[in-house]
Amino acid sequence: MSHNDETRSNTLSIKEGQLYIEGCSTVELAEKFGTPLFVLSEKHLRQNLRAYQAAFEAHWPEGEVRIMPAIKANPTIAVRRVLSEEGAGCDVFGPGELECALRGGVNPEMISVNGSIKDHAIIEKAILLGARIVLDSPKELEICNEVGEKLNKTARVMFRLKPYLHDLGERSDFLPQQEIRELTQTIKYGIPTSEVLPMGPRAIELPFVEPVGVHIHMGRHSKKLAVWSQLIKGYVDLISQLSARMGGWIPQEVDFGGGFAAPQDQETRVAVTDYPTPSLGDYARTITTSFRNAMQRHGLSTNGIMIEVEPGRGLHNETMIHLTQVHNIKQESINLDHRWAEVDTSEVFLGIMGVNPTPPFDYVVANKAYRPRNHRFDIVGMTCNAEWLYQQVPVPELEAGDIIAMLNTGAYIEPMAANFNALPRPGMVLVNGDQADMIKRHETLDDVFARHVVPERLR
Ligand SMILES: Cc1ncc(COP(=O)(O)O)c(C=O)c1O
Repeated sequence: MSHNDETRSNTLSIKEGQLYIEGCSTVELAEKFGTPLFVLSEKHLRQNLRAYQAAFEAHWPEGEVRIMPAIKANPTIAVRRVLSEEGAGCDVFGPGELECALRGGVNPEMISVNGSIKDHAIIEKAILLGARIVLDSPKELEICNEVGEKLNKTARVMFRLKPYLHDLGERSDFLPQQEIRELTQTIKYGIPTSEVLPMGPRAIELPFVEPVGVHIHMGRHSKKLAVWSQLIKGYVDLISQLSARMGGWIPQEVDFGGGFAAPQDQETRVAVTDYPTPSLGDYARTITTSFRNAMQRHGLSTNGIMIEVEPGRGLHNETMIHLTQVHNIKQESINLDHRWAEVDTSEVFLGIMGVNPTPPFDYVVANKAYRPRNHRFDIVGMTCNAEWLYQQVPVPELEAGDIIAMLNTGAYIEPMAANFNALPRPGMVLVNGDQADMIKRHETLDDVFARHVVPERLR
């Protein structure tokens, strides 16, 4: 449980042989709320949010800093309430996440509506709310003006840019066979440069559109600070081209997106994680300094510019653990010497489909946390797949009833859980000190079949 950033301390500890999250025993949580279960530390989440705010504020005296967590990483209403209490804005993708942000108490003016193929309905809702719209195509710009005219209300918009990173030969940590330069161009999101350059002057012409800023999101392609600084350089090159076409327009809201690795960065969704994660301070310094310098080189003022970041994984990854219970031990001693611990969770709840040669998450046997790990087991999930969550990993002697905690499961895991084998998906608990509340109940079989319809003729 070591990490490299003092301001983001971990809230896990071991007491009397049991794993605790804040002041709660995970063994008691498993018993009280049932497994499988996601458990999130509110303190850890608040600390992370404050660390982002402080890191970027320390390096950006020119203007406001807004942390806009990407709701997709953990779209849970109570989680969003915590972040809203902390004063955070929000990046949303599409109408569902917009609804989550509203129910989660985000100040509508601090919502940034991202997403592909935005239709009239979402644009109308955003304009009425006073939320900002991150344009992903010229078509969306025209819809904004059309809807703005109908409502007699101006749409605040940002251009989502796709700078070409000429000088960058680095490969992506996400898809290591591809160069970042190529991926950031071929990936669908963002407005192609040939389309965005004419959009600038067009936005100025349109009476019901106010272009307030620019947006970029590279994604979790690299932790190397040199890559981030190249990205920002390319970003500003494109901003200056847009500015020239728009009569010297300077974006007053500049969003750098997400893609910052989590401190522990043990991610199932990222292929290359085995080099150090920079501290938040280093990310913040690199991004702000590269931005400031590049703007100066282009003769563009940074005075009063509000900067924004949209962390997803970097904010949430380590705030949540996943608890599962061992239900049965299988043992083969004739054909081979092998033991399996069958647990009540599944790869389909954990985003780790297929055979995993290396353990996907750090783990702790929560009720035997001090015992030596001197036995080897496969820990297998409960669908009809092979479900090798862990193969022959060192653990204390396991038996039915043991609770296994999988760490660092806070980002993009729970929202991608599926219902394979008609399994109801796990619930979520929020811990605050010694208090624990269910914030998303366990799914039921009625939920699983709620959308099924049997036509009259088949009844
Ligand atoms: C627009 C936008 N912002 C922020 C994020 C968060 O990214 P990450 O979780 O890598 O920080 C995403 C993720 O896909 C995104 O699409």
